[in-house]
Amino acid sequence: MRKVTGRLNSAGLVRMLLVVLEVCEGGITSSYVRNDDLSLDMPLDSDVFQVPPGYNAPQQVHITQGDHEGRGVIVSWVTPEEPGSSTVLYWAENNTNLKNQAQGTLLTYHYFNYTSGYIHHCTIHNLEFDTKYYYEVGIGNTTRQFWFTTPPGVGPDVAYTFGLIGDLGQTHDSNRTLTHYELNPTKGQTVLFVGDLSYADDYPFHDNNRWDTWGRFTERNAAYQPWIWTAGNHEIDFVPELGESKPFKPYTNRYFVPYEASHSTSPLWYSIKRASAYIIVLSSYSAYGKYTPQYKWLEKELPKVNRTETPWLIVLMHSPLYNSYAHHYMEGESMRVMYEQWFVKYKVDIIFAGHVHAYERSERISNIAYNIVNGLCSPVSDQSAPVYITIGDGGNLEGLVTEMTEPQPSYSAFREASFGHGIFDIKNRSHAFFSWHRNQDGYAVEADSLWLKNRYWKSLEEQPLATI
Ligand SMILES: [Fe+2]
Repeated sequence: MRKVTGRLNSAGLVRMLLVVLEVCEGGITSSYVRNDDLSLDMPLDSDVFQVPPGYNAPQQVHITQGDHEGRGVIVSWVTPEEPGSSTVLYWAENNTNLKNQAQGTLLTYHYFNYTSGYIHHCTIHNLEFDTKYYYEVGIGNTTRQFWFTTPPGVGPDVAYTFGLIGDLGQTHDSNRTLTHYELNPTKGQTVLFVGDLSYADDYPFHDNNRWDTWGRFTERNAAYQPWIWTAGNHEIDFVPELGESKPFKPYTNRYFVPYEASHSTSPLWYSIKRASAYIIVLSSYSAYGKYTPQYKWLEKELPKVNRTETPWLIVLMHSPLYNSYAHHYMEGESMRVMYEQWFVKYKVDIIFAGHVHAYERSERISNIAYNIVNGLCSPVSDQSAPVYITIGDGGNLEGLVTEMTEPQPSYSAFREASFGHGIFDIKNRSHAFFSWHRNQDGYAVEADSLWLKNRYWKSLEEQPLATI
């Protein structure tokens, strides 16, 4: 090694100081060293993709919320050989004598040279809150039984725990992420899924058989707790050269959501209330400019949120508005320009996104002062602004993104390129705890965490006391 000799002159010293200052300006870039080899999709004969036994047995069973308040559940499943029955039989754990039935609907779809199985969707309404239910799908000798627990009634101090998973795919890493979520001692009760499900579109002709394997892989969790769906770019499946020019075709046929309950006109954006949370799902890949259906819906939706009923306002989208990785850098910028001022005005607590295959947490910042001529176009600290979490680290076949913009911008509080999942644990109206769990650690380890104070209730606290 060559020995460096000589003395630094004053210009050199200043330069060094600037470099140090620049590096110190941002948050933490974790130095964790991981194996970032690409992981392939699990082979078709993997046990996680096994077809359940029995002729025409229901498979790919999954549930999501089926109404606006949490008393409804949509049950979806596929029968491969013939239509079978679209009926769901269900009963409360504490009342096994009273078995109820709900009638669902049936559909199939074609995608290039693929024809789907028989896809059933059945909405169960008017369930009791905070109750364990068993349900059964199938017919004759090939029925299958599952269970779910409805959330407590909507209210400001209802504790509730959400899991966060994004960009999952179906690799060995995906399987690790799901296992770590399942075995996390802080038990998630509902998954907020931030888009990019199966990655079937990475196969020739968007081989939709990989949608089926993904449905069988995730059944072990999604049949027992609701997954709240957000559409990502891997759901678009827009290939006009194959004759497939209707965007989101496989996704919208397979994954129903209760969009009409929030007066949305599209399953790609909608809202639900669950316990003490109000969750707004947006579509990064549908028009969101002024006068568009999504814009008009969100404009009406945000003022409807009653924070004395649901203090925690959460927004889900696929493409992050703040992202300091090199990959997908600034892709969320046009949506940020459109909607960030609303998120600040309505004091959104937290925004979860995926897309970038890594983890990142922001400071509370906003960048809404710019008006073309004033030059005010940098993020500034803003206590009315949400925390932005990128959690696109589910572990798909495209691998991690490790390249970051340097130096770390001051708005970025913590970033690390590892696969994992998140937990958003609401304690009461004022406090929630967010934690991020990387797959290489033990199930209880928090690789990053943050206490959140509710933005609405905090702002009330800060108001001066009224004088009598
Ligand atoms: Fe994506």
